[in-house]
Amino acid sequence: MAVEEEIRNMDEATASAELKRLAAVLASANRAYHSDDAPEITDAEYDALWRRNKAIEDAFPRLKRPDDSPSDLVGAPVSETFAKVRHSVRMLSLANAFSEEDVRDFDETVRRYLGLGDETPVSYTCEPKIDGLSLSLRYEKGQFVQAATRGDGDTGENVTANAMTIGDIPYVAEGAPDVLEVRGEVYMSHSDFEQLNARAAEEGGRTFANPRNAAAGSLRQLDPEVTKSRPLRFFAYAWGEVTEALATTQFEALQRLSDMGFATNPLTAICNSLEDMLASYAGIEAQRSTLGYDIDGVVYKVDDLGLQRRLGFRTSTPRWAVSHKFPAELAWTRLQAIDIQVGRTGALSPVARLAPVTVGGVVVSNATLHNEDYVSGLDANGNPIRDGKDIRVGDWVQIYRAGDVIPKVADVDLSQRPEDAKRFEFPCVCPECGSEAVREEGDAVRRCTGGIICPAQAVERLKHFVSRAAFDIEGLGAKQIEMFYRDESLEIREPADIFTLATRDAEAASKLQDRDGFGEKSVKNLFQAIDEKRRIPLNRVIFSLGIRHVGESASRLLATHYGTWENFEKQVSAATVGEGQEWEDLVSVDGVGQVMATSLVTAFHQEAERASIDRLVSHLDVQDMVLEVGADSPVAGKTVVFTGTLERMTRAEAKARAEALGAKVSGSVSARTDLVVAGPGAGSKARKAQELGVEVIDESAWMDLIADE
Ligand code: IVH
Repeated sequence: MAVEEEIRNMDEATASAELKRLAAVLASANRAYHSDDAPEITDAEYDALWRRNKAIEDAFPRLKRPDDSPSDLVGAPVSETFAKVRHSVRMLSLANAFSEEDVRDFDETVRRYLGLGDETPVSYTCEPKIDGLSLSLRYEKGQFVQAATRGDGDTGENVTANAMTIGDIPYVAEGAPDVLEVRGEVYMSHSDFEQLNARAAEEGGRTFANPRNAAAGSLRQLDPEVTKSRPLRFFAYAWGEVTEALATTQFEALQRLSDMGFATNPLTAICNSLEDMLASYAGIEAQRSTLGYDIDGVVYKVDDLGLQRRLGFRTSTPRWAVSHKFPAELAWTRLQAIDIQVGRTGALSPVARLAPVTVGGVVVSNATLHNEDYVSGLDANGNPIRDGKDIRVGDWVQIYRAGDVIPKVADVDLSQRPEDAKRFEFPCVCPECGSEAVREEGDAVRRCTGGIICPAQAVERLKHFVSRAAFDIEGLGAKQIEMFYRDESLEIREPADIFTLATRDAEAASKLQDRDGFGEKSVKNLFQAIDEKRRIPLNRVIFSLGIRHVGESASRLLATHYGTWENFEKQVSAATVGEGQEWEDLVSVDGVGQVMATSLVTAFHQEAERASIDRLVSHLDVQDMVLEVGADSPVAGKTVVFTGTLERMTRAEAKARAEALGAKVSGSVSARTDLVVAGPGAGSKARKAQELGVEVIDESAWMDLIADE
């Protein structure tokens, strides 16, 4: 019976009961959606219930509930999300150290970079690494004006209203510079977390796996009233944009933030040697269980802010800091199965399916087994690992989890091995498309040779394409891509198809609306989100292509080097592996090695792949790489070569500084070189520059040139 007919045939008592039921169901769905970050029903189901309620009210106007009629609430769950905030200074993450050796390397790298000998003391702060989520707070003339989550580091979410409910965040920062961005960690204490979960369990609500998830779920609430009811806390440990230096050292800057009213961590210490650093680490680790909040390591930061500035940043981490992680959490469980997953580049990866086990507060049921050799008990060089023990289905295995790292199977207990357990036979055909899976000489990985005919590769490429560092299309994540790809009627086979979806198929909207989680409004939002990404920065486009070895940082380097899509495409297409000017130019990009360059050039010469790239780009407006820093410096856009001995800074520092000012640093002199900086002992490069009429200056002239930048 059609709904309309069913409603027409209803008597008043049935209609009244049904309106009551719908009001309760919709209210609960609304609560789950808005307050608990855990939708119970899909947008489409919500829409259908809402329309049913409205139709009954229209048929029986007298029965419309005066106080809690769902039709007086917003029509569908608002798929409004947080507004985006572009960070004026990127929010970076930290490189990790897992051992004393790694910390020593960090200290040595700092010294080497700065050209300091072993004897020159370098001081570091040692701070607990809070296990929460980072937040940037902006103050203008001392007034709190905005809070933003880290997001992808460039753009976060505006959570100002929510941050205002956190007691540790002051509305007024006393004595702050005109503009001050305070950065730190939002977290939840153990006792607050336990109380929150106990209350939720009592009310039959959703509980959180650990304090970090609880903090994240609570901060990212659309209703600030909910955030307010959740006991969040904040520690300040860094800053972004500031119109005036806070201090000359990290330690004093933290002190200054504390004076302005921010909570800073009391365990922060100054260390003057490697021994001090390790002792500080051990001291903080010893207190870990009694702190009352989660920490997952310590962070060492060069204390002198002048040295921090000289050290600068790599693509996504500062050179002046490192996080020294506490040892990974371990647990034992049963290995129930080994599945093979096929990745974007055809790699066959074995995945352990485990009897669920809690490792460091998180339930783990999958772990990586890396590759064929790892399962058989061998490392990349063919040497035994785990004393040569292989891993078999049915084994009692030790799971290892370090922070956000994907859990691994670390060990096997042979005394618990079932008698009938058999060696795992790694497949030689792709389980997804049946193509041969081959392992090339020197490669640890076996790969499916199916290329784009392999559905797993195609879908993984699409997932990569929409991932956060690539196109990052709101409402189109891995789950939705998987669903769209499997539905042949939508014909989403390659990235370009995403951009033609709305126009290519007049039925697309209605086909999507039938899908789990999609209502009329969310489809409209999706099409809009896709349209918004037609204009996209060059580095994201390069990364999105999913070419083997071309990761996020390499894509930035390539984008900076080539500047525009047209130039990048022209040069890479014209390059031949191993020879010619275009090849030399490509491998002269610092950070681009032979392997990556070969992979890139090969992809551009591969007909089908190339055609797919061209189809994609025809729908885009690729933004040229804008020099974010130093765009107005005298060396911006110039190609510079350093040669000979530099006396006032190391080669690494000179290069990083030049790049930070927007210059391109090359290892060889050509007609395209703008400037050669030659120190004592400069030889053939300086001579070649003279022959070519390229300007050659000495180190002090270089220092003068960049002095005020
Ligand atoms: S400094 C430019 N200090 O760890 C580097 N980060 O793994 C700014 N974190 O994204 C970060 N405690 O969310 C810094 N004392 C601390 C920290 C800390 C926790 C977090 C932060 C960062 C992540 C990197």
